[in-house]
Amino acid sequence: MTKKILAFALAALMAFALVGCDNAAEGEVLTMGTNAAFPPYEFVGENNEVAGIDAEIAAAVAEKMGMKLEIKDMAFDSLITAVSTGAVDVVLAGMTVTEERKESVNFSDSYATGIQVVIVTEDSAIASLDDLAGKKIGVQTGTTGDIYCSGDYGEDAVARYDNGALAVAALQNGQVDCVVIDNEPAKAFVEANEGLKLLDTEYAVEDYAAAIAKENTDLLDKFNAALAELKEEGKIDEIIAKYIKA
Ligand code: ARG
Repeated sequence: MTKKILAFALAALMAFALVGCDNAAEGEVLTMGTNAAFPPYEFVGENNEVAGIDAEIAAAVAEKMGMKLEIKDMAFDSLITAVSTGAVDVVLAGMTVTEERKESVNFSDSYATGIQVVIVTEDSAIASLDDLAGKKIGVQTGTTGDIYCSGDYGEDAVARYDNGALAVAALQNGQVDCVVIDNEPAKAFVEANEGLKLLDTEYAVEDYAAAIAKENTDLLDKFNAALAELKEEGKIDEIIAKYIKA
């Protein structure tokens, strides 16, 4: 009887140890910061999980590095601080490479292109960038859209919102005359909402890349190596094509 119990206890212990081993074999966790209100790059999908191009690219990169991806959703304008202080390992957020951001973080090789575009209501008199003078422009706080518009049209011309969807809601309510945002989210917002259209104009063409802390050059090298392999394998194109129909 006691032998049986002992054998049982031993078996249970071994099963436990095995589970422990399994976890260790999964490897380290790579934490990614993002702002998941930017479809199709990141959005909250099924089961409240962050889905989209950036989430899938980061997961593929993490897998290549033998790591497990964990995503933290936060305000866009806190992402650079989060990565440079080590609260997250990497940021993928449809984030544009800019000289100013490069003073705080390193950027990986680019994995996509973004274009700043203008959303207006269908009946809008605004037809080109020149018409934006004197108008109220909705932007997401801290984005390049915010930075360019504040510079080109003045601080007072810009109304800042926590995310693109709120800026678009403000456009529909008549609180702003247009929204300046990246082209793919812009298309998604125009599709999902009645009475909106895109101006046929490119305000700025930009490169998206992952941001990594300055001192974490080891991760930067590994990330770039994994990304290069994924590009070569056609995996990056595949992920993008899944979300963006040509
Ligand atoms: N590309 C723009 C920037 O870097 C906007 C990115 C916004 N991304 C987001 N996940 N909300 O400033």
